[in-house]
Amino acid sequence: MLDLGEVYDHPLPMFCDNKAAIYISRNSVFHERTKHIEVDCHFIREEILKNQVCTPFVTSERKLADFFTKPVTPSEEVSVWQSVAVCLKPQRSDRGFGVQKAVETLMLETRSLTYADGPIPVPVDNSFLIENVERISICDTGLASNEYHKILLFWQAKPVVHVFQLTEEGPGEDPSSGDVLSSFSEWLLPAKEFDRLWDSLIYENGLKQRLLRYAASALLFSEKCVDPCLVSWNRIILLHGPPGTGKTSLCKALAQKLSIQFNSRYSACQLVEVNAHSLFSKWFSESGKLVAKLFQKIQDMVEEETTLVFVLIDEVESLAAARQAALSGSEPSDSIRVVNALLTQLDRLKSWPNVIIMTTSNITAAIDIAFVDRADIKAYVGPPTLQARYEILRSCLQELVRAGILRYSQDHQDLVLPNYSTLKEKLHSLETTELEGSMLLCKRLLEAAEACKGLSGRTLRKLPFLAHASLPNPNCCDPGKFLNTLVETAQSEVSELQV
Ligand SMILES: Nc1ncnc2c1ncn2[C@@H]1O[C@H](COP(=O)(O)OP(=O)(O)O)[C@@H](O)[C@H]1O
Ligand SMILES: [Mg+2]
Repeated sequence: MLDLGEVYDHPLPMFCDNKAAIYISRNSVFHERTKHIEVDCHFIREEILKNQVCTPFVTSERKLADFFTKPVTPSEEVSVWQSVAVCLKPQRSDRGFGVQKAVETLMLETRSLTYADGPIPVPVDNSFLIENVERISICDTGLASNEYHKILLFWQAKPVVHVFQLTEEGPGEDPSSGDVLSSFSEWLLPAKEFDRLWDSLIYENGLKQRLLRYAASALLFSEKCVDPCLVSWNRIILLHGPPGTGKTSLCKALAQKLSIQFNSRYSACQLVEVNAHSLFSKWFSESGKLVAKLFQKIQDMVEEETTLVFVLIDEVESLAAARQAALSGSEPSDSIRVVNALLTQLDRLKSWPNVIIMTTSNITAAIDIAFVDRADIKAYVGPPTLQARYEILRSCLQELVRAGILRYSQDHQDLVLPNYSTLKEKLHSLETTELEGSMLLCKRLLEAAEACKGLSGRTLRKLPFLAHASLPNPNCCDPGKFLNTLVETAQSEVSELQV
């Protein structure tokens, strides 16, 4: 560098991905074992001795300079597939293709070095996008949260753009059921009703990613026509756990998510929610017919190859209950026939590649063994952990601020509440006495989350509303005071639970 006229006051690092070469360059004894030592090697060695250069080790993938001299091998090319979901404005469905191209260009032009999930702004100077696009968001990058700060080189991330439009129709119900409890509802996906549902559900243990990957593999196996006699997979998911932990919502959200992710392969997507209770209503003699009719309907949908069908059977424990009751003789044996009919129909559905069956149960112990056996993935959905509780309450608070019900004081106008891990780091590095405005607020929020131990996700989402209703002065919009009430409300909810 001196020869180039650059003055450098410490050893110039020459990153090297070959440890042997590093040893040789440092130690002349190694030279006897190597055959071809050229003059330039001695030159480097002398420079190292003079402390002019140093040779730190880097792995081959991280050796930036290789980019100039070697072809980039395919395995290194893309390390993150970045899923970009683009929601079209209503009545803009014909612009899908143009929008996809425009967003791909946008993603490549405005590369950022971090790849965290979340919305990205629609550029104001792009009138085409502004006109057609409701919002753009990056989702499910698949990075663990500690990897977000990992530096990715721009060719290591590849945007995969999914353009979709929400249907606003709402659920269709079985019209012929008359005054009998309707046995199912159906939605065209992606539906407006389930928009943002996926993001609103918070689980700490990667449950959502696991379900998503599972479904993607299942659909891939189907698409590639893997022989089910050799490798069997049923495309049945069973979520079980205490009530109010978001199982039903998670199933619907998963269906919505997959309908967007696979919209290039399946032109239409439908969700059928079967009310298991209604199948076993008091009209047992009717039940058999109900099941047959229902599955005939599903069959009709599934026969259309380009339609992806999700069947959600909620609260399947009623199946087991019906079978138990039949065995003990207290119910007509009709019910056992209904259960068996349902299972047979499910088995028949399995032969179709474009259907995913999702089931939920509130009572883990009481699920029909015949059912448990059929499920490929059995996931326990438990009550939210501290981190999940903090995140749920944080999202509630942010929503109340957005809606204008709570307002930050003048000097905290653009306050952003940090997420759980950031908060923990900050609290760790700061002394408690140093805490000022915004951090104090977050600490209060964390206390609220701690106070909510044992509450279900459903109760947590209700809590801010209950807290607001019990404010001494409902017009008060100070977040600090609100959080105090929130803690009190949480405590009273928890104590009610224990009674
Ligand atoms: N882990 C969670 N994160 C965020 N919200 C949750 C969570 N668990 C439950 N909820 C909230 O509770 C509501 C009810 O969930 P639901 O799907 O009916 O539960 P389940 O079917 O398990 O009884 C959901 O709409 C959601 O708002
Ligand atoms: Mg439920």
